[in-house]
Amino acid sequence: MNMNQSRESGRTGGDALTRREFVRVAGAAATLPVMAGGLLVPSHARAAQPEAGKKLRIGLIGCGGRGTGAATQALKADKDTVLVAMGDVFDDRLKSSLKGITEEMGDKAAAQVQVAEDKRFLGFDSYQKVIDSGVDVVLLTSYPAFRPAHLRAAVEAGKHVFAEKPLAVDAPGLRSVVESARKAKEKNLGLLVGFCWRYNDGMKATFGEIANGGLGEVVTAHTTYHTSTLGKRPRQPGWSDTEFQLRNWWHFTWVSGDHIVEQAVHSIDRLSWALGDRLPQKVICLGGRAARNGPEHGNVFDHFAAVYEYEGGMRAFHTTRQIDACPNDNTDYVYGLKGSATINGWVPTYQIKDRSGKETWKYTGPNDRDMYQNEHDEFFKSIRAGTPINDGERGANSTMLALMARMAAYTGQTISWKQAWESKESLVPEHLEMGPLPTPEVAVPGKTKFA
Ligand SMILES: NC(=O)c1ccc[n+]([C@@H]2O[C@H](COP(=O)([O-])OP(=O)(O)OC[C@H]3O[C@@H](n4cnc5c(N)ncnc54)[C@H](O)[C@@H]3O)[C@@H](O)[C@H]2O)c1
Repeated sequence: MNMNQSRESGRTGGDALTRREFVRVAGAAATLPVMAGGLLVPSHARAAQPEAGKKLRIGLIGCGGRGTGAATQALKADKDTVLVAMGDVFDDRLKSSLKGITEEMGDKAAAQVQVAEDKRFLGFDSYQKVIDSGVDVVLLTSYPAFRPAHLRAAVEAGKHVFAEKPLAVDAPGLRSVVESARKAKEKNLGLLVGFCWRYNDGMKATFGEIANGGLGEVVTAHTTYHTSTLGKRPRQPGWSDTEFQLRNWWHFTWVSGDHIVEQAVHSIDRLSWALGDRLPQKVICLGGRAARNGPEHGNVFDHFAAVYEYEGGMRAFHTTRQIDACPNDNTDYVYGLKGSATINGWVPTYQIKDRSGKETWKYTGPNDRDMYQNEHDEFFKSIRAGTPINDGERGANSTMLALMARMAAYTGQTISWKQAWESKESLVPEHLEMGPLPTPEVAVPGKTKFA
């Protein structure tokens, strides 16, 4: 298993600070304006169809653990790339990220890491400044709450986008994402969503075998994302409410979406993959907060158990837990009429058996290629070819699967796919600044209303 996988898994005793801050270390700019038909085309209006050999300028928005990794992977994916702009809300995060990227790029850093002092932007508007700084590709790796706005601005400006999962924390945000994904398609812009397991060699082969009928007709699946609790950052003197919540972002639903949306969405995406990406009609989901307490733990739950129902009455299941001293698991169990599959990315396991338990298929491909690098390799190749990957709508659907389960758990109600998409509940404050920000209440099933 590679280091990135272990960081995302949170298996290291659930120390989120280690998990989050782990740098998967981990990524001369053609700063001249592009000539098109003899006219100078301003960077914001430039058609994103870079030809082979042209330098691709990259901007990083959200300079944390994942952003640092994604930037180095982007730079390694294509030698004619250069990181030219970075944006974050916190100076310490931007500085440590730039250091990490520079170290990881080693002797390639001089050519590929050229972030001038005046291209290091801080604040909630830093994303727009990065987008406006003459970049061709942006990496959106800040918190999920901000993804819809960052994505919209990037697509409007004609940039190719790598966007980490999840794509939003609420339905209004996700509707905006779908619109941006469609616009990106119209403009032939790349939009690759960070459902990285879709780029894992063993998983691709196993889910491919399932799609080819290796289990017969798939009748159900159960995926798990059971980990320890995540770390917390005690409040420091001088931190405003907003800073406190952002520094502990994975414990606040408005920033992260809750852990079923922020982390377990990987396994929910794989549930969907196993079922041929069909969409459910509705979901019921049990959930609560058994072991979390204290201000740093914000308002998220620590366990969820979702039951999705599909046309014809088929049911499929996902369970996730972040509680210490309980066994961890991140397995996909897929059942078909002829057999079953057991798939685990943390301890690479790609097993297909018949109903008597006899192995009927074996994965024999590589286990050593980094899926995060794979996704960037494929993304940049597609951009160069002029046929950029755009999996935005699929990424939005997987995000919605997690969101609807959270809505069902928080309210205690059955939530239909249609209802979830039409939800008007907007969690992200419209005008965010570093200042007072009350802690949202913990939801109580049966009392909390669906909105
Ligand atoms: N695909 C994967 O395997 C994987 C792994 C880890 C994280 N992630 C995802 O990546 C995202 C980031 O996670 P992380 O672990 O890197 O978190 P992190 O806290 O390490 O990094 C996030 C960074 O974004 C910055 N930020 C927050 N809001 C911002 C804003 N409005 N504008 C600019 N910068 C802002 C933060 O200050 C921080 O530096 C999350 O969506 C997470 O779910 C995906």
